[in-house]
Amino acid sequence: MIQPNEKIIVALDASSVLQNRVLISQLENKISFFKIGLRIFIINGFKLIDEIKEKRKKVFLDLKLYDIKSTIQETVAKISEHQIDFLTVNGDPSIVEAAVNGRKNKNIKILAVTFLTNQNRNDLNLSLIKEGSMNELVAERANNAFMAGADGIVCSPLEASFIRRQKKFNKKIIVTPGIRLKKTDSEDQKRISTPSEAIKSGANYIVIGRPIWQSKDPKLAVDNFLSNMSQ
Ligand code: C5P
Repeated sequence: MIQPNEKIIVALDASSVLQNRVLISQLENKISFFKIGLRIFIINGFKLIDEIKEKRKKVFLDLKLYDIKSTIQETVAKISEHQIDFLTVNGDPSIVEAAVNGRKNKNIKILAVTFLTNQNRNDLNLSLIKEGSMNELVAERANNAFMAGADGIVCSPLEASFIRRQKKFNKKIIVTPGIRLKKTDSEDQKRISTPSEAIKSGANYIVIGRPIWQSKDPKLAVDNFLSNMSQ
């Protein structure tokens, strides 16, 4: 069985590589999964990723790739030469399919981003996304991504149970950012929930960024999230 601490993915979003390296060393006895996003990837490439893998930890490369099929396919082929556990691509089916075709091994799980957790229905209107509730649209995007071969999806904790309830999605990976202990601490996130609610809703993994890396005591912050998960 997966232990609660193995369900936490810490987002390494601090602005310098050094700060993230310090954070990893502070948390490596508690945390086994780290997320590298665009901020660090554009300054450091695969170096920190390779360092994390040397520590036998898991890596989530969160690039949310979005491009034409041939570019996605080639890019994912190159990325899959590295030891990456999860990679995000935009949830459009053609992109998911290109990513799945491009990877050189199945160790790298392709996660489709449904909608960003800092988007609400009003943001979707501005992006000219068709009518429907967030739940319905996320479920439809998840379905399309799974049909195209995605191993999992990224959605908000608020939609996780809606997707998990559908039997055909039972074995798929659900990763939820937008995790906060208190709803008042949302910052730019708009579709948020607590760790325990996210896990009860069917999320396999929760991504936590600022509440940990901006904390004066990241270890204590992790403990607070863990105790919430045991409620
Ligand atoms: O700091 P916070 O906990 O809000 O960080 C959430 C992390 O999850 C960030 O690294 C962000 O890029 C990422 N993310 C997200 N929403 C998605 C996919 C990824 O917030 N749909």
